[in-house]
Amino acid sequence: MGTSYTPPTNPDWWREPIERSELVWIVLAFSWCIFMFVWMIGWHFAGPQNMSNETYRTTIEEYAKKVDDFSAKYAIRKDDATGEDVVAPPPGSDVYLAAMQWQYRPILELKKGEKYRLHISSYDVGHGFSLLPENINFQVYPGYEQVTTITPNKSGTFAIACGEYCGGAGGIGHHSMLGRIYVKE
Ligand code: CUA
Repeated sequence: MGTSYTPPTNPDWWREPIERSELVWIVLAFSWCIFMFVWMIGWHFAGPQNMSNETYRTTIEEYAKKVDDFSAKYAIRKDDATGEDVVAPPPGSDVYLAAMQWQYRPILELKKGEKYRLHISSYDVGHGFSLLPENINFQVYPGYEQVTTITPNKSGTFAIACGEYCGGAGGIGHHSMLGRIYVKE
């Protein structure tokens, strides 16, 4: 014959002292939560985490002017394949990249081991910056200028793909949205 368990009806159950082992686990878990919370700052400096960046408000017109001035100043040639400007800014300088339906502009030529301040914004809708074959990803929005300090540590040709569906009204170009970065020795 089965009997069902009926908990004791003790109206003061919440006054009972916590079991010692339970208290130990609560203290351990809570301490770990606090440690991980504070250590979030540490991830900006330690480990292969996604890069941290600064973000500023801008407008599409204001940002487009920066990109145009930057391209005009440092363009060195037209790309053979695309006819786009290839822009080679001096090491240590500010570099401006624009995302738009459906490309990244201009093509950059950077030097390995040199530091640059990379600015990115969008001319229309939200896009994704995805650097291949490296695993660097972030979102790009119109009205926001994101600045990331980068030091390319490998030479070669790198593709920028769009990692955010940006088809738009009647638009089908998301899958063909690409950009390019050359890194020279
Ligand atoms: Cu831009 Cu998808």
